[in-house]
Amino acid sequence: MAFALTPEREEQVDEILTRYPERRAALLPVLWLCQRQNGWISPEVAEYVSKRLELSTGVIKGVVTFYTMFFDEPVGENVVWVCRTLSCDLRGGKAIQDHLEKKLGCRAGHTSADGKFTLLKAECLAACGQAPMVQINDYYYENLDVQQLDRILDVHATKGGEAAAAEFSTFASFGAPRGSNGGAVTSAPPPPSKEAVRVASRPPPDPTGDES
Ligand code: FES
Repeated sequence: MAFALTPEREEQVDEILTRYPERRAALLPVLWLCQRQNGWISPEVAEYVSKRLELSTGVIKGVVTFYTMFFDEPVGENVVWVCRTLSCDLRGGKAIQDHLEKKLGCRAGHTSADGKFTLLKAECLAACGQAPMVQINDYYYENLDVQQLDRILDVHATKGGEAAAAEFSTFASFGAPRGSNGGAVTSAPPPPSKEAVRVASRPPPDPTGDES
């Protein structure tokens, strides 16, 4: 069946297209909108994007297979990225991966039998100072040990991803998570901490060095 975006998302595509001189430049944000709705970039989605942006499906496939954040096959309701680069590895990343595989009942690169979680290995997710860490959907969970991981997964299972993020996540990487209906974007990322607001509100230093 042909893929179609919701009317709201179609409006968003129209708006995105006004930002660029060429339609092809809108490829990444349009793919992202489609993946938010569909969960992955299926052949039908690629066909839709091809028509909307006047690009060949070959170009679209090249982009989707290049960026790990795009999925070219179906994934679970939630995607867990476990960081396995050096800083996380030195601080127990392998134990975190092993524990996730045991808990979810699937190896990295696979989806749990109930379809709720896909477990994927990630290269550095730029949170090395808080290693080891995982990203679940759009949220970072840092300074982990297996006990903390269990608490996060328990809240995820009983109250949902939004509740787990509100209680445990340290950072929202981009936007709100994909809803369990495969598309709803229901809330904004957490607000910045008081410390972040304080630092951002500081006046810039005087270029003359005069502190008076
Ligand atoms: S090594 Fe894991 S976040 Fe950088």
